[in-house]
Amino acid sequence: DHRDLHSFPTRRSSDLMKVLITGGTGFIGSHTVVSLQEQGFEVVIVDNLSNSDSAVLNRIAKITGKESYFYCEDICNRDALKNIFSEHQDIVAVIHFAAFKAVGESVEQPLKYYHNNITGLVSLLEEMKSARIPNIIFSSSATVYGQPENLPATEDSPVLPATSPYGNTKQINEQILRDFLLVNQDLKGISLRYFNPIGAHPGGLIGELPIGTPNNLMPFITQTAIGKHAELKVFGNDYNTPDGTAIRDYIHVVDLAEAHVVAMNALLNNSLKENYSVFNLGTGNGFSVLEVIQSFEKTTGVKLPYRIVERRPGDVEQIYASTKLANEVLGWKAKYSLDDMTLSAWNWEKRLSEQHFSYDDKV
Ligand code: UD1
Repeated sequence: DHRDLHSFPTRRSSDLMKVLITGGTGFIGSHTVVSLQEQGFEVVIVDNLSNSDSAVLNRIAKITGKESYFYCEDICNRDALKNIFSEHQDIVAVIHFAAFKAVGESVEQPLKYYHNNITGLVSLLEEMKSARIPNIIFSSSATVYGQPENLPATEDSPVLPATSPYGNTKQINEQILRDFLLVNQDLKGISLRYFNPIGAHPGGLIGELPIGTPNNLMPFITQTAIGKHAELKVFGNDYNTPDGTAIRDYIHVVDLAEAHVVAMNALLNNSLKENYSVFNLGTGNGFSVLEVIQSFEKTTGVKLPYRIVERRPGDVEQIYASTKLANEVLGWKAKYSLDDMTLSAWNWEKRLSEQHFSYDDKV
């Protein structure tokens, strides 16, 4: 059994484990840092702040009462990674969030995406290997499934050719991790395929901070409701779905964050059969664009101006997750409802508009 090959001890609850989070000031990263600190982990963050704000660090500390170590560095910078691993020789695992994620931009600027997302993972793995860090969790995406023939999508549904450089980087990264771990059986990794993460921390201190006009549905809804956009465009109502609009598996970002802690414990406790595993992270429920709008209007009491327009090129008709594997193997299940997601996203948008991330808030 490969699990006997390395001497990493089973985790005791009294141990304070230190983990490195790349992209820890981003949307999913920041919520995961909160969950990890709440579960007693010590956190080192590396983030170049290319799509986030350092004020997030203080917000995290306000929620958890704990500080994080922070390095404003690019993960493609090998010397920076070497330095972090040598300053924190007790790091036991890495969660790798740092990546670009805008589908349209990736079509316009493919090399930007291939450089950051591919070189970033390769340099991280090389430095992890030389620093003997045995565990990695990678942020993958349901985008690897394209439009599955059978729903719900299971982890062994075929990976279809990517429709954007962004999607391609997620597929290539999974392949890199699989190939790397095949010949490094003493190291372990997990790819987590996120469905559609939305919502925000219930206290309204952290959430999504889109730069420019958002491409994604939830931030566009909340920004429209607060008056930043005249109306939401609903991309297509002629899909083969009950109300004609496209269906996704929206998952509360706090549920998603907690799944990372559960996956981390599975790695640290050596409880997985293989040294590389893949899990879907979704609720298992599909909701249409119109259902998301209805939930938003119901929970917030705010009427949302919207208009049906053409389909958006590259969109799939419907996808939702089979969550069986994560339920059974990790013992994880999403807890929050769509209404929790839309309401928390709205509370976050209101907090953002009231009190911008002020300069004083920065560290
Ligand atoms: C997209 C990407 C996915 C990526 C994720 C995070 C694709 C096929 N999917 O997911 O790979 O991981 O973003 O960046 O490229 N919608 C509207 N009006 C809007 C915005 C969206 O009607 O203004 C609809 C879309 O058509 C879709 C749903 O809302 O049906 C969700 O869209 P979005 O939030 O952009 O997520 P995905 O496209 O599912």
